[in-house]
Amino acid sequence: MSIKNIIKMAASDKEISVYGWVKTARTSKNILFIEINDGSSLNSLQVVINSESQCFNELNGIGTGASIKATGQLVNSPGKQKTELSASNIEIICNTDENYPLQKKRHSFEFLREIAHLRPKTNTLSAVFRVRSQLSFAINRFFQERDFIYLHSPIITASDCEGAGELFKVTSFDLQKPSLDKTGNLDFEKDFFGKETFLTVSGQLQAEIFAHSFTKTYTFGPAFRAENSNTSRHCSEFWMIEPEVAFNNLEDNYRLAEEFIKNIIHYVLEHCQTDMEFFNKWIDKNVLERLSKLSYSKFEVITYTEAISILQSSKHKFEFPVEWGNDLQSEHERYITEQVIKNPVFVIDYPKTIKPFYMRVNDDDKTVAAMDLLVPGTGEIIGGSQREERYDILLKRMKDQNLDIDTYQWYLDLRKFGSVPHSGFGLGLERLLMYITGMDNIRDVIPFPRTPKQIKF
Ligand code: 4AD
Repeated sequence: MSIKNIIKMAASDKEISVYGWVKTARTSKNILFIEINDGSSLNSLQVVINSESQCFNELNGIGTGASIKATGQLVNSPGKQKTELSASNIEIICNTDENYPLQKKRHSFEFLREIAHLRPKTNTLSAVFRVRSQLSFAINRFFQERDFIYLHSPIITASDCEGAGELFKVTSFDLQKPSLDKTGNLDFEKDFFGKETFLTVSGQLQAEIFAHSFTKTYTFGPAFRAENSNTSRHCSEFWMIEPEVAFNNLEDNYRLAEEFIKNIIHYVLEHCQTDMEFFNKWIDKNVLERLSKLSYSKFEVITYTEAISILQSSKHKFEFPVEWGNDLQSEHERYITEQVIKNPVFVIDYPKTIKPFYMRVNDDDKTVAAMDLLVPGTGEIIGGSQREERYDILLKRMKDQNLDIDTYQWYLDLRKFGSVPHSGFGLGLERLLMYITGMDNIRDVIPFPRTPKQIKF
């Protein structure tokens, strides 16, 4: 039985065995007090054993981090906890030594990243990964309850969904002597798939296929980006949730995103109370207030053009120039959501020149039906759009962006055979987790971060 459940139980004379790792051990008046934790919750169980027990001498020198099995009865505790385990026997499964890096003091997150094989044992990281797990469940639940079909989109692809060229290449060539064609270029026809292939940057294009058969679909899986950006909000491998819905326009799309975010945050607040209280106490004193406020606030919607005029009329000195036609930088996004709107806000209708080929061109022929959701503290957590469903316009956009039309023939086909308006978006799981927990580095909300020059674990 997990410690999370044991500490909810009433005292009883039934003998139970508990497994876990020692958080702290101290002796007082011939009694050894051990806090053990098994990761099932932040709370540890106090185990007490007195010096008359046969095993007492063997417990001398038991260290923080040791794994143990404790057997005994759950009794009412005179201490702050309701119950404790009065142990008749404690078996050390494996002790630690003085080199165990997680001693009872606060360690910096930078240091903990160096020991990613041990950091899930800390209070903060264990809380993060429990919330991550519950959040993932809530995400699947949200879509499953609404008849969305879960699509496992491929990891290896031949297309570049975002058209940004930030792709990790996949090959089985011997890199010392790859096959070359007559002109001396790599001959991908001789490579494993007979074509140049990559790790996916997004499952969207395949989700669009499913939306044209199932109406409502979603993906939830890893995405890979070879962008060399060493920021606290970017990882080379991150998890993305991408719903795609046939017959939805842009407004349907941002309303779905709003309902989705509120629903899953509500689930986390309800099911991760202890962990959320921990974040509120130790990481960000505003987290709980911010999240509960969010559930009854209506997310604002402004156009990109309005965002530009807000930024231009502000007295704030920005590092990057604010000009219609340029993409919004993180400092601009955060200024809008934190200083001006002070709430989550969708920015819609971006210039078509800065957005991918698949976004639907608006009637002004200058902007596309795009949407980004910006939230205070984290900035952009969602990017999405209504998709271009008109064959000729899409083909022109693809040609303008120099895409290899053959590679995307199937994508164009969807616009020939029963094409429909449709929309979708991508939510970065780690960005949302940062928002929910108040953690300010993406490396601390993903179990084993992959960032430029970092892949130890
Ligand atoms: O805005 P992005 O690039 O949109 C897409 O990939 C679309 N195909 C989604 C769709 O419409 N189906 O990425 C979507 C979200 C971002 O808002 C951000 O939360 C996250 O994915 N994201 C990253 N998270 C961590 N590290 C990175 N390098 C990220 N790049 C994007």
